[in-house]
Amino acid sequence: MANDHVAIDGPTSSGKTTNAQLLAAQSGHLYLDTGAMYRSVAYLALKNGVDLDNEAGLVAMLRHHTIAIVPDASTTAGYRVNIDGRYTGERLFDPDVAAAVSTVAARPAIRTELVERQRAIAAQGPVVMAGRDIGTVVLPDARFKFFLTASLDERARRRHAEFQARGIDVSLDEVRAQLAERDRLDSTRAISPLRAAADAVTIDSTDMKPAEVVARMRAVMEAARA
Ligand code: DC
Repeated sequence: MANDHVAIDGPTSSGKTTNAQLLAAQSGHLYLDTGAMYRSVAYLALKNGVDLDNEAGLVAMLRHHTIAIVPDASTTAGYRVNIDGRYTGERLFDPDVAAAVSTVAARPAIRTELVERQRAIAAQGPVVMAGRDIGTVVLPDARFKFFLTASLDERARRRHAEFQARGIDVSLDEVRAQLAERDRLDSTRAISPLRAAADAVTIDSTDMKPAEVVARMRAVMEAARA
């Protein structure tokens, strides 16, 4: 066995964050949500007024900022993102960042830069890493690979509830349309599109509670270890 990494991929609001966080807490792995890195780049681009199509400008911008993802179980996401040493709070989950992130994530130079950072973190010890391309590109040799899905309606309902809890006023229809558009962009982009690795176990969480999803994952992992 070369490693004990767990790769979890899937579309937006498929439950990756919640389940990856729970699984990591139970297994003692480090939890890394790679979406936070792409969101950080999108946020910095908006903040600095860098054109989302200016790939070289985006990469140059990254050299002037530090992005640190620090595990913190007291936050909803299970981590805090500090940019230039300052906690970003819920800002990375705002609708304007969500609208910009797919464009940023489709830039090859940005992906090369972030994938390198993700692999460097995995080199330090066992991780539960969540994203879109973890099982296919970032950690193709991960010992365990899961692909989480849920129906578009259920994912829209979950994301809408999150926005409502934060007092952000968007309709369920708008949220559903934005998710569908992000699914389309994420799965049709030329580089590292969202797809399940051939050796991933797919779990449809539409009618499952997080505890059930994690129990399923742990059963798969224990069977493989036996
Ligand atoms: O998981 P999330 O919704 O926080 O991801 C935000 C965006 O980043 C999403 O549009 C897809 C992109 N992403 C990616 O392309 N590759 C990853 N490994 C993680 C996220």
